[in-house]
Amino acid sequence: MEQDFISVDEILQEYEGKKGNLIPILQAVQRQKGYLSKSDIRYISEKMHIPIAEIYGVVTFYAMFRLEPQGEHIIKICKGTACHVADADSIKEAVVDYLKLEEGEQTTADGKFTVMEVACLGCCSLSPVIMIDQQTFGKLTPNSIPGILSRFKK
Ligand code: FES
Repeated sequence: MEQDFISVDEILQEYEGKKGNLIPILQAVQRQKGYLSKSDIRYISEKMHIPIAEIYGVVTFYAMFRLEPQGEHIIKICKGTACHVADADSIKEAVVDYLKLEEGEQTTADGKFTVMEVACLGCCSLSPVIMIDQQTFGKLTPNSIPGILSRFKK
């Protein structure tokens, strides 16, 4: 089978390590690895002679960049207006409790789930809504969360 993994060095070479190409370089590294690790950011900083703080400034400015590995299943919790009014906070709390996530943690220790908040998922009449991978679940209550998440645990 053909190996299509490209190293960070190859990515830097492809973009000639030019400072103006920092964003495409970060995107390419994230495409390869799923996220931007501390060591990759440090390496890019050294190779491109760009201060590490400047790279973190870029990475944290754009929502597309991830600093943590993603779980196998992505849970998007809608925090749009309709869902907010329908108590999306209690849904989030139920998800975080069920997955036993610590404060500030997005991904479970077993790498199964990553939780993120998103703006309107486009089905406000079903609020409050969450999306797991490509499936939408609506008209939720905190009690409905364990049953839904347990289906994805296997
Ligand atoms: S606000 Fe949640 S789906 Fe629209």
